[in-house]
Amino acid sequence: MQRHRIFAWKRELQAVHHRLEKALEEARRAIRSGERAQRLAPELRDFCYTFCSALGSHHRSEDSDFFPALLQQMPELEPTIARLSREHEVLARLLADFQMCLDDPRSSPRQLFQQINDIKAAMKAHFGFEEGSLNRALDVLDAPESDRNRMFGDV
Ligand SMILES: [Fe+2]
Ligand SMILES: [Fe+2]
Repeated sequence: MQRHRIFAWKRELQAVHHRLEKALEEARRAIRSGERAQRLAPELRDFCYTFCSALGSHHRSEDSDFFPALLQQMPELEPTIARLSREHEVLARLLADFQMCLDDPRSSPRQLFQQINDIKAAMKAHFGFEEGSLNRALDVLDAPESDRNRMFGDV
């Protein structure tokens, strides 16, 4: 296999996660600022949609490209990747429920805030496990820098 110039995959994954955490905090702030209202204003909702689409894109890219690339070079990661994929499924369900409530004008900001806090907890735990368990693998992953968006999504 052709060796590529070592790309800082570990730092890149942390940077992507950090941007997603910032997007989540913006969505939380938007919901909080609408908390006194019965419904969340459309412009505040946009922060939530932006976050949902960014996290969804990141996880879909990991499932379709990043995890297979890791497994091809390090098959011993199979149990770790299986757990990470299951966590993606859990988060995808939480995001789908959240988006359904966002689309429902009867949802109160209070309800949405509860949901986004559940997403925050699951996402934080997932990022922590992903970064920790793939730490060494990311140091030796042999893939070109140009694969970055394919592997991590356009985040
Ligand atoms: Fe992930
Ligand atoms: Fe990730």
